[in-house]
Amino acid sequence: MTSTVIVGGTGSLGLGIARNRATLGDHVVLTSRSADRAEKAARDIGGDTHGRALDLSDPHSIEGALSGLGPVDHLVLATAANDTSRNTLAEFNVDAAADSVTVKLIGFTETIRVVRERFTPSASIVVFGGLARNRPYPGSTMVTTFNAGVSGLVRTLALELAPIRINALHPGVVGDSSRWRDQPDHPAIARTPLGRLVTIAEIVDATDFLLTNTGVCAIDLMIDGGMRAS
Ligand SMILES: NC(=O)c1ccc[n+]([C@@H]2O[C@H](COP(=O)([O-])OP(=O)(O)OC[C@H]3O[C@@H](n4cnc5c(N)ncnc54)[C@H](OP(=O)(O)O)[C@@H]3O)[C@@H](O)[C@H]2O)c1
Repeated sequence: MTSTVIVGGTGSLGLGIARNRATLGDHVVLTSRSADRAEKAARDIGGDTHGRALDLSDPHSIEGALSGLGPVDHLVLATAANDTSRNTLAEFNVDAAADSVTVKLIGFTETIRVVRERFTPSASIVVFGGLARNRPYPGSTMVTTFNAGVSGLVRTLALELAPIRINALHPGVVGDSSRWRDQPDHPAIARTPLGRLVTIAEIVDATDFLLTNTGVCAIDLMIDGGMRAS
């Protein structure tokens, strides 16, 4: 049986990925900062799905939180950081900035380090970045920087983990995610060649591609409806 771990598995994208992998028959472990939220999400999904508490903002706690984990075929890092999307120089919030970089770069890297002894020989990893990597705006310095950092870490870790594959997935604005579903007239729609925002189902499908296509390694896959071209 395939074993899949989804860090940030209670969020819009992580939950969709967890549900899909459970439907495919995987043994799924999903995480949240709260054991109760993780266990509730696992129960709602059903099948062989289990919840665990894990907080990437405290990287020293990651090893203990993941102790006892079995073999891992797929690892998905879909954690969101604190919202630092409008952290301008004029009102720079140092604590939020430090927390976001800790979660997205140090937390992701430490999680991979902790899990690496449990990876099966053909294991694969997907790390979530985001379109702000390519499309900066005033106030996006932290988001743009840590999403670019995700691109860096898949390149170096592909070398350290070889032949285990690791790739980055950068969503555009996901229209039916909890963050954006109450904003049906999002300005990104006008800048997207598809004429609409991308969907959770499209992100889930792209994640499956990166997890299972055995030729893809150390790439940045943009799922943005073509918005980066406009
Ligand atoms: N939605 C979009 O339009 C969009 C666009 C571009 C990029 N992305 C990226 O895609 C990924 C998933 O986005 P999403 O919309 O699914 O986010 P989301 O709905 O906000 O979910 C975030 C997930 O991260 C977990 N989490 C938050 N802080 C954490 C921490 N310190 N340690 C461990 N887990 C933590 C949350 O768990 P609990 O709250 O239960 O603890 C939840 O499972 C993120 O990396 C995000 O930056 C999303």
